[in-house]
Amino acid sequence: MKKKLIGGIAAAAALALAMTGCAGGGGGGDDELITVGFAQTGSESGWRSANTESMKAAFSEENGFELVFNAADNKIEAQIAAVRSFINQGVDAIVIAPIVEDGWDDVLTEAKEAGIPVILEDRTVTASDDLYAAWVGLDFRNEGVMAGQWAAETFGDTPTNLVVLEGTTGSAPANDRAEGFAEAIEGTAITTLDSQTGNFTRADGKTVMEGFLQKYGDTIDLVYAHNDDMALGAIDAIEAAGLVPGTDIQIVSIDAVKDGMLALIDGKINFIVECNPLLGDLAAGLVKDVLAGKDVEKKIYVEDQSFTPEQAAEVIDERLY
Ligand code: AHR
Repeated sequence: MKKKLIGGIAAAAALALAMTGCAGGGGGGDDELITVGFAQTGSESGWRSANTESMKAAFSEENGFELVFNAADNKIEAQIAAVRSFINQGVDAIVIAPIVEDGWDDVLTEAKEAGIPVILEDRTVTASDDLYAAWVGLDFRNEGVMAGQWAAETFGDTPTNLVVLEGTTGSAPANDRAEGFAEAIEGTAITTLDSQTGNFTRADGKTVMEGFLQKYGDTIDLVYAHNDDMALGAIDAIEAAGLVPGTDIQIVSIDAVKDGMLALIDGKINFIVECNPLLGDLAAGLVKDVLAGKDVEKKIYVEDQSFTPEQAAEVIDERLY
C-alpha cells in the first residue's frame, strides 16, 4: 500500500498542481465539468465548517467541477443513502467524509460495480481499501499521542483525575484519539474518572461536562476533549460551576480552530493539538488524477502541529480557520 505524509509546503505544492490539472479528467472533453458527489458528515463543529468551505472552494466550477453536496447531520443511514443517490445519478466520482468507520462495505461495493471511483477525506473506514481509490486526512492516533504526551509531561507523577469528552461514537477520530492518548499516559499517575461522548458538539460537550461536575465536583483536575468545540462547551460548564477553566481544571483538546485558539490564548484551554481541515485541494487533485487513470498514493497524511498559549498567540493572526 502506498502511504505519504504531506506537510504545509508540500500540501501547497500539491494543491497548485491539482488546480492546474486537466479539468475534464473523467468527464470527457476539456470543457466538460467533472460531477462529484460529496457526502459530508454534517455541521457539528467549527472544524467541520472549515472543512466544508475548503471542499466547496476546491470543487468549484472554476476548477472544473460540478459539486453535488450533501451533509448528513451525522446520521449514518442518511450518509449512506446520499452515496447511493450519487451512484444512481451517475456522478463521475464520489468523495466521502465517513461519519463512522464501520458499515461501508455494501455501498462502496455498489460504487465500485458502477465504475465510480470513491475518494475518502478526513475520516477512515474499516472496509477493504480495494473499495476506494484513495484517502486524504490526518493521523488521528498521533493527535491523541501528542495530547497525551502533553498531559504526561505536565502532570507527571502527580496523582491527576481525568475526564474525557469523546467524539462521535464509532468515528475514526474518536477511536484513534482515545487509543493514542491512552498509550501516551500509560504508566503515569493520571486516572480516568469517566469518559463519555459529546458528539463533537459544543452543546453536548457542555451537557456531559455538567454531568461530570455534578458527579465528581472539584476533584476533576484535567479534561481531554476530542475536539475544541466540546472543550468550549466544557469551559461554559466549568465557569457555571464557579470554577476557573485552565486553572482549577486544565483542558487539552484537538483541532486548533479559531475559537479554540482564542480560548487557549485566554488561558482557558492549556494545550491544543491541530487537526488541519483544509483538505479540499488535495481531495480535488486526487479526484482528477484518479479519473485521469494516474497512479495515486493510497493514503495521504497531512501533518499536524501543536500549540501552547504562547505559540497560539504568535500564529493566531495568520491562521486560515
Ligand atoms: O474528523 C475530524 C473531526 O470531526 C474534528 O476533529 C471534529 O471537530 C470534527 O467534527
